[in-house]
Formats: sequence, structure tokens, C-alpha cells
Amino acid sequence: MLRVEDLHLTVGGDLEAVRQVSLTVGRGESLGLVGESGSGKTLTCRAVLGVLPPGVAVSRGRIALGDTDLTALDRRGWDRVRGNRIAAVFQDPASYLNPSLTVGRQLAEQLRLKRGLPRGETRAAAVALLEAMGIRRAPAVFDQYPHELSGGMLQRTLIAIAVAGRPDLLVADEATTALDPAVQAEVLDLLRQLREERGLALLLVSHDLAVVAEVCDRVAVFYAGEIVEHGPTDEVIANPRHPYTEALLRVASLGDWRRRDLEVIPGRPPELGAFSTGCRFAERCAHFTERCGTPVPLSTVDGRTVRCHRAAELALVGA
Ligand SMILES: Nc1ncnc2c1ncn2[C@@H]1O[C@H](COP(=O)(O)OP(=O)(O)O)[C@@H](O)[C@H]1O
Ligand SMILES: [Mg+2]
Repeated sequence: MLRVEDLHLTVGGDLEAVRQVSLTVGRGESLGLVGESGSGKTLTCRAVLGVLPPGVAVSRGRIALGDTDLTALDRRGWDRVRGNRIAAVFQDPASYLNPSLTVGRQLAEQLRLKRGLPRGETRAAAVALLEAMGIRRAPAVFDQYPHELSGGMLQRTLIAIAVAGRPDLLVADEATTALDPAVQAEVLDLLRQLREERGLALLLVSHDLAVVAEVCDRVAVFYAGEIVEHGPTDEVIANPRHPYTEALLRVASLGDWRRRDLEVIPGRPPELGAFSTGCRFAERCAHFTERCGTPVPLSTVDGRTVRCHRAAELALVGA
């Protein structure tokens, strides 16, 4: 369904913020993108959605959705794809809603635009969709304004608006990050359910490996603009092959939400434009050797794609 091949993104013409990213998401499949802040997850999503910020451009590679080459689309082409075949939800749902209109009216409008429902039918369809998103008392919620709803309810409403056009792919970028742990778990449940029941393909972004582990079949670990490890989530977690994945596992709230953010990986990722030609994780890596200063090709180890010279020889600790 979604195929990203050798994607490179530049900032300001020459700084490479994302390098050599390849990934696929099939129908009903979910892929998680995980990594520290600034690792290129959001820019990758924005490239997929055709909404790169000013100054950021695709310098190499191809993004395709089914038979459609997204990198070749013009504005009108994107209008047909966005909201219809690809939709998205982000961290701050309130900022994507009009504060002066009821949430029901905004959802009804989306149903009219994207599904061509006549005005007389949009209210019932919107209430049904809110209910399908797990919103109780949906008829009452329909008439409420965004400020009257909790963060979890707002995110459910935004997901309803996103799926109103029956997209094939939903991009969720840190969509549950701002929510309380219990509400976060409920919204993740909803995403999983949409995938199972509607065959929705999911591209889910989180800095927290535990969130990805809840929902995603496969995970791509980002570090400093590159994918350093990519494979089945269970296997990556049980048996990481890249030292950065191992480090992320130690700070993830896996199995216990309360541990979140208590630990950090020592050091900081390199600044954009200051990337080494060798391994970008080298200076923070506990397994550093001479070789790590030289360019690291992607290799396949244990059914995983890994960008580490020592991927095959290191004994790393999983969760
Ligand atoms: N609008 C922008 N203009 C310039 N640089 C940007 C912009 N957005 C992101 N970047 C840079 O690109 C890199 C990747 O950012 P991003 O994709 O937002 O990371 P993540 O989502 O993983 O936190 C960072 O170094 C960031 O500073
Ligand atoms: Mg981001």
C-alpha cells in the first residue's frame, strides 16, 4: 500500500535531515516509527502526507501509495489523495478543530465533503461514527464545542474526522503522547481496532517504544535521520540488533507506564549538519570500536535490517 524507497529530505537546500529511509506499510498492517526527538520521524510522515514545511524538500527517493507516485503529484493530485486515501492525526487535536463550531458540525461537514452524504444524513452518520470511536453519549457530544471535551475525547473526534473519508492509510504522529496513560491506552486500543476491523494501514509515530509495541507489527528505529533497525516489533524488542535500540528499550515504559521518561540515554544526538560519515550513534555507543568511524551499510541480521558494523557479533539485551 505505502512504499517509501530511499527517501532523502534536505533542509535549507543542503542539510540532509532524513537519509536513505525505506519502508512499507501493507493493508491492515501497522508500522511504528520510533526514536528520540529530532530523529526525522515527523519529517518522514510529512513527506508521506505531502505537507513538508517550507525549506524542506525531497532530494532523492520515491513515495508511492498503491500505484500512485506521491512524489510526482501536483496540488490537485494531493487534494484527491489527502483525506481520501491518506489521513492523519497529531499530538494536539484541539489545534486542528475550529473552536467556534461544534465537533459534530465539523465531523458532519467532513462526511459531506469526503463521502458525499446529503446534509439530511450527515448528523446520523456522524453520531454513528463517534460511537464507533468509542464515544459514549455521542448524540450529546455531537453538539459540544471542542473546549468542552477532554483530550481523549478530542483525539477520538479527530480520529473520526480522519477516517470519515475512509482512508487506506492513517498516519498518527505522537497522537497519544499528550494523554494520560489510561486514556492513551484506550486510544491505542481504538487504533488497533480500526486496523483490525477496517483494514486500515497505520503509520504510527512515537518516541516511546512501549506505544509502538502496543499497536505495531513492525518497527523502524530512527536515529539522527536514518533508520538504524527495522523489523518485526516482538523480535526487535526481545532481541535488539542495534545498540541504539537496546538503549531505547532501557528508557521505554515497556510493561510499566509509570517508568516513562525516568531514565535517559546519556549524551545527545549529533546536530543536523554535523553528522559523521561513519555511524551517527558512535559517540554515545557502549560498543564503539575503530570501525565505527567508517560508513555503515545496511545489513540483514536475524530477519532485521540493521545499520551497525557489529550487528552480527554483539550480544545485546532485550526487554
Ligand atoms: N520546518 C523545519 N525546518 C527546518 N528544520 C526542520 C524543520 N522541521 C524539522 N527540522 C529538523 O529536521 C530534523 C528532524 O525533525 P523531525 O522530523 O521533526 O524529528 P522527530 O519528529 O523525530 O522529532 C531535526 O533536526 C529538526 O530540527
Ligand atoms: Mg516529531
